[in-house]
Amino acid sequence: MARYLVTSALPYANGPLHLGHLAGAYLPADIYVRFLRLRGEDVVFVCGTDEHGVPITLTAERQGRTPREVVDEYHEVIRRDFEAFGIGFDNFSRTSRPEHFRFAQEVFLDLLGKGYIMEKPMRQLYCSSCSRFLPDRYVLGTCPRCGSGGARGDQCESCGSWLDALDLVEPRCSICSSRPVPRETRHWFLRLDLFQGWLREWLDGREGWRDNVLNYCRGWLDEGLQERAITRDIDWGVPVPLEGAGGKVLYVWFEALLGYVSSTRELFERRGRPDAWREYWNGTDTRLVHFIGKDNIVFHAVIEPAILHGLGGFVLPWNVPANEFLNISGQKQSTSRGTAVWMGDYLRALPPDPMRYALAINAPEGRDTEFSWAEFRARNNELADVLGNFVNRTVSFAHREFGGEIPRGGAPGEAEAALFASAASMRDELAEHISAFRLKAACAGAMALAREGNRYFDAAEPWRRIKSDREGCALSIRTCLQFIDWLRVAFSPFLPFTAEAIGAMVPPAASGWDSVGVPGLSEGIALGRPAILFGKLDEAFDGPGSLSAGASAPAAPRGGEKERKDGASAEGLLGMADFGRVDLRVGIVLSATPVEGADKLLKLMVDIGEDSPRQVVAGIRKWYSPETLPGRRVVVVCNLEPAVLRGVESRGMILASVGEEGVFIVEPGAGARPGDRVR
Ligand code: 2FM
Ligand code: ZN
Repeated sequence: MARYLVTSALPYANGPLHLGHLAGAYLPADIYVRFLRLRGEDVVFVCGTDEHGVPITLTAERQGRTPREVVDEYHEVIRRDFEAFGIGFDNFSRTSRPEHFRFAQEVFLDLLGKGYIMEKPMRQLYCSSCSRFLPDRYVLGTCPRCGSGGARGDQCESCGSWLDALDLVEPRCSICSSRPVPRETRHWFLRLDLFQGWLREWLDGREGWRDNVLNYCRGWLDEGLQERAITRDIDWGVPVPLEGAGGKVLYVWFEALLGYVSSTRELFERRGRPDAWREYWNGTDTRLVHFIGKDNIVFHAVIEPAILHGLGGFVLPWNVPANEFLNISGQKQSTSRGTAVWMGDYLRALPPDPMRYALAINAPEGRDTEFSWAEFRARNNELADVLGNFVNRTVSFAHREFGGEIPRGGAPGEAEAALFASAASMRDELAEHISAFRLKAACAGAMALAREGNRYFDAAEPWRRIKSDREGCALSIRTCLQFIDWLRVAFSPFLPFTAEAIGAMVPPAASGWDSVGVPGLSEGIALGRPAILFGKLDEAFDGPGSLSAGASAPAAPRGGEKERKDGASAEGLLGMADFGRVDLRVGIVLSATPVEGADKLLKLMVDIGEDSPRQVVAGIRKWYSPETLPGRRVVVVCNLEPAVLRGVESRGMILASVGEEGVFIVEPGAGARPGDRVR
């Protein structure tokens, strides 16, 4: 049986990730992996943060911090965001681990010994006012291809061309803006030229690869592969493992690609089988799949195969499903231009699954894709109206009329047979799509299946039939419940959290992809309480910011509560929309100190998942001594108007119960994390 080794591009640990990242390399990989697991395949899914290179040192310089501080912070932020979005890596590693250093250095020496790496003099831009050679990204200027002004020495973001810093028109140093000049230095080069013939043949033999990927690679080969420098003049990275290497480090791309291997090694060390990584990387029946964004094609489909082929005995990529870019509301998602929607910001306002769905069904598979908040709202509401509604009305009906059990009685007829057959054929259709990396089509297919369920429900008219034909009604509801169990499985690669919530209502019978369409639900089993799976968003919704800013759209509930459609309040009651305006979040107290001259007040610094802690003044000094507070979880009202109490600013409020026995802080459970919304 084939083994699958699935990777997602290692993100740079120099900032949080945005929705464009998620749509490109992470969500598709996660959907694919979840599907493979449902099929019982042997899969390993690895990733990690890319912690070296100029993107990191530039960020550190800009923020006045050390590279180490930057990567430590963002590794954690990125890891948490992935987890909250349900991206289920088996291992999420870091390229700053010593084990990765050792492996990358071994590979360098191996290729050097084989003649695939050579040292040679080269010309490089030197900034005399900074007294240093400038790595590509430290050079800014005008793109020689498209004439855009904001090109970097390695790449022009406007036209996507890979550049040589020496070719930039009007180059300037990104640190001091002065004009650098070419000077002689020495570097190590990967002899890509030696792989030209082999690569062309290998690429010609790839089946099932996307055209965009193959065309891009062929374009490169047509230009003729040159040797490429794989060392750099910075002091943050994996040192070149040679005497007298003069403080040079391995080029981040050279070693980051090897991060997939070292992440796999770390995984199996943790599992207590330190050599098992070889079964994947050195086995002959491994399917290595790299999920990436299109800007990474050349590295994964040309350079990495060359390195692995040069090493010998390693598997080569089986497929490289590269995605195009996702533009939100007409803007390219760009960290550097500040046009991005951060994964963390989205998650603070809304649950993960509606975004997973909206991104999967609009996946930028063949071309760049426009994505707007209006589109998101429509997709969210589609989930609520089709899948959510079908599940809710079926389970509610079973509770109302059949004592909350899977009803007995009635013999399946034509309508049931037709519905079951549609599930079985959709199962195979979806499988074909996902196996061929057509996730968009697969996601649409799952939704089409949910629509079938609703159509069956409508045609069966259980609300009418219950009066005249209880048996027939029982049959329809049981059929719907069976169908829901299959929908749970079919949707679970796309909507893992929803799948779990469905399983809490209809006890799971189907397990595994192949059980979709195969009746397996037993009569008489107790159902869970009906819950609302998706909250609807109203027309005022214009992105997650519009929720916390107090627009009238309620945050989508995770389940349980019934929601008034219009968000308006009945007399004396608070509408969901009003309640939704209160920004309640989990915080962790970092420090607590008495406020001078106020015997009731403590000043708390609270981590609420933002870049810097929140200062809150709380009237709890009588009940809590300051040293008992750090580390405690609290609920913070985050969008209260700031107030000044005894000269100390307070930007929020801590929730506490106030009763005869005293004041008690409301404490969320141990799994709650700073920034989690409280609703
Ligand atoms: O483009 C990027 O974000 C790179 N950090 C991707 C690296 S992928 C691989 F080499 F690890
Ligand atoms: Zn300079």
